[in-house]
Amino acid sequence: TYTIAEPCVDVMDKSCVEECPVDCIYEGGRMLYIHPDECVDCGACEPVCPVEAIFYEDDVPDEWTEYNAANADFFVELGSPGGAAKVGKVDYDHPMVKALPPMNQ
Ligand code: F3S
Ligand code: F3S
Repeated sequence: TYTIAEPCVDVMDKSCVEECPVDCIYEGGRMLYIHPDECVDCGACEPVCPVEAIFYEDDVPDEWTEYNAANADFFVELGSPGGAAKVGKVDYDHPMVKALPPMNQ
């Protein structure tokens, strides 16, 4: 799967959402999260992010590797909705993200 990391926090450009053929990039309160079971590894999202927040899971820089788990954990309650458009913005963030000070301003 691919992972969205810290550069997305408080930026949420959402160019990635338009590129994803399976609509598996979900909007939280402060960042977006890729569903690890719904992502088909097409990679279309990665080059369009203007702040380079998206990485293949094995290529996430060391300081952000916890975002692999954070993207997955975001879906513990949501499950696998099978599409972000019908879910819309979720007023929730992974606790690690929620605890961050204002970022990337
Ligand atoms: Fe975030 Fe980049 Fe997508 S800022 S919303 S990962 S285009
Ligand atoms: Fe979608 Fe990016 Fe995965 S475009 S299928 S989230 S690699």
